Amino acid sequence: MKKAIIYYSKTGNTRDVSQKLNHKMNVDLLEVKAESDDPNILNPHLVEIPDVTSYNHLIFASPVHGFNLCKIMNSYLNQLPDLKGKTVDLFITHFFPFAWMGGNRTLKQMKKILENKNAIVNQMTSINWKSKKRDLVISNMIESYAK
Ligand SMILES: Cc1cc2nc3c(=O)[nH]c(=O)nc-3n(C[C@H](O)[C@H](O)[C@H](O)COP(=O)(O)O)c2cc1C
Repeated sequence: MKKAIIYYSKTGNTRDVSQKLNHKMNVDLLEVKAESDDPNILNPHLVEIPDVTSYNHLIFASPVHGFNLCKIMNSYLNQLPDLKGKTVDLFITHFFPFAWMGGNRTLKQMKKILENKNAIVNQMTSINWKSKKRDLVISNMIESYAK
């Protein structure tokens, strides 16, 4: 089964976790990039758009911005082709202390976009950067996603 981890990261946290996950998984690690990292641009112009067509399993990762999925990952996910037959795991990183302050909503938004493209969404993880349990959450996720 061909797998990839596809992430967007503005300040490095999501990249850091994606790289750790890939130490264990050793798959293709692909970054979404936009012309500008300004989180307020409504329709960001993507300059690196990882192609998902050859993969059976995808892991998408994003930060939370303004209680929502950040606009760059939102644009990327929305431009994907049909994902029928592909399975997906998700994770997000966020900073505010409670999952209801953006983390849960962002995972739901990602799931909805991907299910509308006929992907099967399996595991979802919210990583709170401020939490004392952060490293444990990350290591549990890595164990589970790398199976
Ligand atoms: C513009 C902006 C908006 C943010 N909004 C939220 C938010 O609503 N909720 C939250 O928990 N964290 C929020 N954060 C914090 C980031 O989600 C968090 O630091 C994340 O780990 C950053 O990931 P990155 O380093 O991969 O970009 C925000 C950060 C930025 C820069």
